[in-house]
Amino acid sequence: MSETARPVAVLGVGGGIAAYKAVDVCRRLVDAGVHVAPVMTEAAGRFVGRTTFDALASEPVQVGLWGERSPIPHTRLGQRADVIVVAPATADLIARYAHGMADDLLTATLIATRAPVVICPAMHTEMWEHPAVQANVATLESRGVVVVSPEEGRLAGGDLGAGRLAEPSVIVDAVLGVLAGAAAAGPGRLRPASGPAPASGSSDLVGLRVLVTAGGTREPIDPVRVITNRSSGKQGHALAEAAYRRGAAVTLVTTTDRTVTDGIDVERVETAAEMERVVLRRAETADVVIMAAAVADFRPTAPAARKLKKASGVPEIVLEPTPDILAALGASRRPGQVLVGFAAETDDVRERAAAKLASKGVDLMVANDVSVPGVGFDHDTNEVVLLDASGDVTRVDLTTKSAVADAVLDRVAMIATRRAAGTAASVGGRDR
Ligand code: CTP
Repeated sequence: MSETARPVAVLGVGGGIAAYKAVDVCRRLVDAGVHVAPVMTEAAGRFVGRTTFDALASEPVQVGLWGERSPIPHTRLGQRADVIVVAPATADLIARYAHGMADDLLTATLIATRAPVVICPAMHTEMWEHPAVQANVATLESRGVVVVSPEEGRLAGGDLGAGRLAEPSVIVDAVLGVLAGAAAAGPGRLRPASGPAPASGSSDLVGLRVLVTAGGTREPIDPVRVITNRSSGKQGHALAEAAYRRGAAVTLVTTTDRTVTDGIDVERVETAAEMERVVLRRAETADVVIMAAAVADFRPTAPAARKLKKASGVPEIVLEPTPDILAALGASRRPGQVLVGFAAETDDVRERAAAKLASKGVDLMVANDVSVPGVGFDHDTNEVVLLDASGDVTRVDLTTKSAVADAVLDRVAMIATRRAAGTAASVGGRDR
């Protein structure tokens, strides 16, 4: 792959003990196929040598605003970046960035970019918990900056507490997740999702627009009676909540009246026809579509306008097939879109799910055997097998629907990242 075809990450290294871990972040990003342009603050140079980054990164490290090869290194770096990651982000660096200061190359680059930014704070517990630091972090989060929270653990000097830099693998996952979101979002959409920031947890889906369906559709027989199924919508709602928690911009199309976290865009529908109309429209701008809803396969051809009366005898209800929404999405998906289907089966689960994966043209099938106690409809637990179009199979043993949702989203993030590695070339080629 040519250098310019690779996504570009500016790796900003702040002046803290944890700067040595940025070396591992750099190496892992390069291994993942990312072009890494390192920028160190003056203080970072007291903790780790320039030569280390010069040797491991994709280009020589830059430190100062002056005397570099380019007269305006910050704007060059800011424009070239597909993502900027700052690890470690010290209290001082966070404060300067939050207040728009641009007094060194790294802060000037952060202010001069439109690329998504990931910051990874690391400092002593007292500093991390100080209201000034927390306020600055909240300010950055409200502007869409992804914050990879520090962990609890042993700190410099032997103290124990919160403030230790997140593990390099966690940081790299977050960066790849942001790159995946940016590449899937296409031209001009390289910003993280706007709107209220999710409360907590990993932010690997920032930048992705995720559409989830939930619940069983209800097909009217007459104004009083419907044909429906046992779906409770719990798994679909759990997926929407988990995707939102992980930073995605989420739209939930549901047949249920379950409460939904503020910040998730909800569309309530009832029939397969309504769901089809809403989903096809909303899918036009979605990077990921997860069809967890149990869509009725048949509906009464001509629902009665007035209530059918017992006295009129046993009614003859003629059924017709409903449109297959997932198959329609599979046939007309937009480039880069990730499609996920569900298969609730009672026999030959894997074979049937694999057949649906192929016939509906999806990337991932979530299959479950609903004849097993505690699995599927209306339970709070689920046990699934995830079948990937590339042939990967992942078993998720009986667990909460929330944990199943996270397992599904892990696969989605992986597929989106793989896809981004393919599409990043065009993003990179266009912008540079
Ligand atoms: N699905 C859909 N539209 C339909 C029926 C199903 O979008 N009219 C979606 C479901 O949301 C699910 C997947 O297709 O993600 C598989 O649904 P399922 O009911 O298991 O499969 P069917 O194709 O309906 O086949 P069958 O009911 O015969 O098993």
